[in-house]
Amino acid sequence: MVIAPARREVVFAPRLDRLLHEHRTDGFFRLEPDTVGIADPDLMDAVLRARPANAEERPTFKPVLGRQVTRAESASLMQALGADVRAALKRPADRPDLTGAWPAVPHDYLRRFVFGPETRRFRVLVDRRLELTPKLTWSAVAAGAALVRPPREDTPLSVLARQVLAADDFAERRFRMYLYRRVAAPICFTVAALVTSAVWLGAPFDDDVPNEHVINEALRLLPPSWNVLRVRSPEFTEVDARITAGDDVLLLPLLSHRSPELWEAPDEFRPRRWAGLDADRHRGYLPFGHVSERCWGRHLVLPLASRLLDVVRAEGLVPDPRRTTARVELDGLLEPSDVKIVRPRRSGSR
Ligand code: HEM
Repeated sequence: MVIAPARREVVFAPRLDRLLHEHRTDGFFRLEPDTVGIADPDLMDAVLRARPANAEERPTFKPVLGRQVTRAESASLMQALGADVRAALKRPADRPDLTGAWPAVPHDYLRRFVFGPETRRFRVLVDRRLELTPKLTWSAVAAGAALVRPPREDTPLSVLARQVLAADDFAERRFRMYLYRRVAAPICFTVAALVTSAVWLGAPFDDDVPNEHVINEALRLLPPSWNVLRVRSPEFTEVDARITAGDDVLLLPLLSHRSPELWEAPDEFRPRRWAGLDADRHRGYLPFGHVSERCWGRHLVLPLASRLLDVVRAEGLVPDPRRTTARVELDGLLEPSDVKIVRPRRSGSR
């Protein structure tokens, strides 16, 4: 038996729930004495156009222990990551067993799929448990970097890992290992979050709805990057006088993605709506940030998410029908937590 997706509910952490209930139609509101919230699509657009994100606002390439990550270093890391993702996607499609606790199961699968049998010092850097404390991450990085002995020539390593091992000394190796974590982990965390949302919101999917539309709709209702922060800056007061010189600005795709002014049936999972909409241009739809500096990882995220959805569809995977609610915690990454995914017995099978 499969429970109808409509009966599955998302239970937001209280702070998120209040945001959705109290401010969904506000467009502009005061969130804290020194922070304003913005969900009006034109105002979000104007703020994001006003100036580029600064080094501290960039989550992936913000400084590592005070050392700036240069543009060239960032580009080279993304190229290495892209090479690893493309190589993984070229391999023939497999049919892994993805039943169990999501998002942990797809996270671990993606780590193996993209980075292969990487040596332990790298594997540990993509472990979900490192999220618990930054200190743990730092000690894993330092321990890995201290291992000077290079692996044997024939050890299978990702392009990303080879870049780390090419470092000349401990400090450089530690810096690069930290950056390995910064780019390798998001592939696993964000894609697993996105696909867990999609499956919770809509599986089983109709055969004639493409993965692309399922993904766009999951990104709309549960945007993994549900907010974009810009710290106080004179450009913003010029955009709108209600933003004072002391205000940080929190842009909220979580709200604009559910605005009744921008979407028909805003709370419903309707992937078919994307047949007539342009995800790159739709007003207020910003799952990957603003057009002027859009996410560098999105071209890697989308095919990986689609590959996972292929497995979900081929295997007929669905959330355990006995569960009707999934919690979404207040966290940097928006995702349903601890969703049990099962493969219902096909009628006739024993
Ligand atoms: C579902 C997956 C993802 C979503 C929803 C997402 C969303 C976003 C958003 C909203 C921004 C704009 C942030 C801002 O303007 O402040 C952004 C920027 C960025 N994203 Fe992603 N992202 C995803 C996955 C990834 C992955 C896997 C990578 C690879 C490492 C990545 C790398 C970046 C980079 C490099 C930037 C530019 C800013 C920076 O340096 O951090 N993203 N992303």
